[in-house]
Amino acid sequence: MTSPASPLQTAPNDFHKRPLVVMQSVSKMFSSGTVALSDMSLTVNSGEFVSLLGPSGCGKSTALRIIAGLGDVSAGSIDWPSSRINSRGLPEGDISFVFQEPTLMPWQTVFGNVHLPLKLRGISKSAARAEIMATLATVGLADFAEAYPRELSGGMKMRVSIARALVTKPKLLLMDEPFAALDEITRQKLNDDVLRLWKETGITVIFVTHSVFESAYLSNRIVVMKARPGRVHADFPLHTSLSRDARYRTSEEYRQACETVSTMLLEAMGGEEEH
Ligand SMILES: Nc1ncnc2c1ncn2[C@@H]1O[C@H](COP(=O)(O)OP(=O)(O)O)[C@@H](O)[C@H]1O
Ligand SMILES: [Mg+2]
Repeated sequence: MTSPASPLQTAPNDFHKRPLVVMQSVSKMFSSGTVALSDMSLTVNSGEFVSLLGPSGCGKSTALRIIAGLGDVSAGSIDWPSSRINSRGLPEGDISFVFQEPTLMPWQTVFGNVHLPLKLRGISKSAARAEIMATLATVGLADFAEAYPRELSGGMKMRVSIARALVTKPKLLLMDEPFAALDEITRQKLNDDVLRLWKETGITVIFVTHSVFESAYLSNRIVVMKARPGRVHADFPLHTSLSRDARYRTSEEYRQACETVSTMLLEAMGGEEEH
């Protein structure tokens, strides 16, 4: 290439429209006979922040787990067009998962907990120190490296969980209702943290929530799911000229975004006969 590379070409969140993961007509039936997903197709592009929104039981967690390789599909496929995949069909090391519970090891310090995914790759604490400390700094916990989980608030524990997910520098961050158990103010702070991390790193995020307000605040794109069986009901972009911050929360644009999302969600929840 002889043309000078523009710094903008690689700027985070300059959506590449390069498919990162493609769910193609995925169905999932559990051994109990429950059809959790039926013919679900979804392409998530590199750099997007996508919310999966839908009523409880519509298959959000199942879809996320399948993307993470934590469950098989009954029909259909998951493809990673731009990644090198391992023998399990997954882009090795490129996916991290954050669950609703922070799932920290109580007997380990914050540092030890964030070290875990690197330890599993054979990287010692001393070799990983700089990376772990840098990641803790990005979630505002640099001063808490030696603290134990029991000494932390719920929001701080969730920050540790996010740091643990980011320390391997994944391409894709899967978050399953990560802030549902937190109080509103803490939740808003963590929403802002996640947005900042997304902007800084250019990571792709698939964020599961059942909150209209949270999905409208965070995402560039919202996928509304319908239940019994789980499938995509609506898939639309959410653009805003404003930066998503405290002022956005009280803006007319945000109010309209919430209304649009809310209408779609009500539609998805309103009976099986409509299309
Ligand atoms: N391991 C499982 N075995 C049997 N049924 C399951 C299992 N996991 C989820 N389900 C069922 O699949 C459907 C979708 O569940 P889930 O993906 O957890 O929905 P959501 O995350 O949207 O609340 C629900 O009816 C749920 O009861
Ligand atoms: Mg769930």
